Amino acid sequence: MNVPAPLTNLKIQYTKIFINNEWHNSVSGKKFPVINPATEEKICDVEEGDKEDVDKAVKAARQAFQIGSPWRTMDASERGRLLNKLADLMERDRLLLATMESLNGGKVYSSAYMLDLGVSVTTIRYYASWTDKIQGRTIPIDGKFFSYTRHEPVGVCGQILPWNFPLVTLVVKMAPALCCGNTVVVKPAEQTPLTTLYLASLIKEAGFPPGVVNIVPGYGPTAGAAISSHMDVDKVSFTGSTEVGLLIKQAAGKTNLKRVTLELGGKSPCIVFADADLDNAVESAHHGVFFHQGQCCIAASRLFVEESIYNEFVRRSVERAKKYTLGNPLNPGVQQGPQIDKEQYNKIIDLIESGKKEGAKLECGGGPWGDKGYFIQPTVFSDVTDDMRIAKEEIFGPVQQIMKFKTIDEVIKRANNTHYGLAAGVFTKDLDKALTVSSALQAGTVWVNCYGGGSCQAPFGGFKMSGNGREMGEYALHEYIEVKTVTVKISEKNS
Ligand code: NAI
Ligand code: MG
Repeated sequence: MNVPAPLTNLKIQYTKIFINNEWHNSVSGKKFPVINPATEEKICDVEEGDKEDVDKAVKAARQAFQIGSPWRTMDASERGRLLNKLADLMERDRLLLATMESLNGGKVYSSAYMLDLGVSVTTIRYYASWTDKIQGRTIPIDGKFFSYTRHEPVGVCGQILPWNFPLVTLVVKMAPALCCGNTVVVKPAEQTPLTTLYLASLIKEAGFPPGVVNIVPGYGPTAGAAISSHMDVDKVSFTGSTEVGLLIKQAAGKTNLKRVTLELGGKSPCIVFADADLDNAVESAHHGVFFHQGQCCIAASRLFVEESIYNEFVRRSVERAKKYTLGNPLNPGVQQGPQIDKEQYNKIIDLIESGKKEGAKLECGGGPWGDKGYFIQPTVFSDVTDDMRIAKEEIFGPVQQIMKFKTIDEVIKRANNTHYGLAAGVFTKDLDKALTVSSALQAGTVWVNCYGGGSCQAPFGGFKMSGNGREMGEYALHEYIEVKTVTVKISEKNS
């Protein structure tokens, strides 16, 4: 696909709170700055939502969900038509959205255009085609009864987004929710509200009834916490840190036991056996961790390489990591942009320093890059051991740590020795080894001889402390449906 040059005259039109298909100022009158991470310059100010704004948004979403409302009485197929219309509008404005995602999120522009926009549109269309295929069952219960199930929407769904994939995570949560007939209150990450707010304008243009989608930009401990502890929110879906995932479950437990789905961090193992196709393994493991500056929940951040090929693997991985062009992600030829903000930048630098101190061998990189923006050099550590912080903690940066293993039993044990369980990779030409290891790994996704490809048709989510529930695919629909059993007394029944 040809990627057109990014827009040079991008105007930021939408900076307010979106409730009932209208734009609102914050109740407090406060705004917050949105920063370009490549230049550290302010892009614009956005209205800062807080508890009162969340209350307004939840009221609107509840109203839109009332029995008899336009949304509740709409044909299921019409919900599909609206979602498809939204996808059409995103395709129309793809250049603008990709430019904005790159500017605000520090994303390599071509990747934003191809991947973020591509995945978002495909995902909306996927769920658009599900709307009129969500069916209950008739059930032959004992006695003279007619019994059936209805798959009903859950209600008002809070959706709290991260900054690493603003549009994709919005769509992955919102599309299945709307597909099933729910209404939503979305809080984008404070770093990256711009494409979410732009999408709000497309939701209105597509013709969704007022109150079906509401968007409240703001900070986590204020606007985010107001959603997770709201008594009239029926479900919350969150992507972000495990630390905040714990808070969200607590908030649900302390209030109305709202349903919770969580997509949290990871420290995903990637295992390379000596018989693997080495070129493919080096390249896949490299992208597995360096993609989007390492800011991916699935990052292949614990790389285990079999002893006999270890030195050669390290040599090739270092050579590969040194090939990067860093810079403003909107510029052609740039392959690595900045980290999202100063906080993430500091966290990564601190972890790199811990690697040096704890005795890992720094092969390349190891510090900041450039004189403005939150850039970090692509960094590779070898001779990493399981007890080091860089082998245990989620780094969320362009830092690869390569460890050595001898036997299959040993590597399975070590790979599973973590609280996380999001994803894993296995590289081998031996089918038996591939199947043995992939069934033994505690992870929601296992890739064999590839790493990192996701798709809207396949479920995604974590084992252990990497999350609860699944997003994407048919499985995601279960997270947005309540099952109601209706039993009717009848005078006679025949089998
Ligand atoms: P975070 O978990 O604090 O932020 C994610 C979202 O949660 C944002 O919208 C934020 O405003 C909201 N939030 C924060 N505190 C909240 C609260 N008390 N109640 C409700 N919502 C709240 O993540 P942060 O601080 O941006 O990054 C920290 C680390 O988390 C990263 O270094 C990385 O390790 C991990 N992370 C993982 C992501 C993933 O894709 N699974 C995405 C972003 C971060
Ligand atoms: Mg945080």
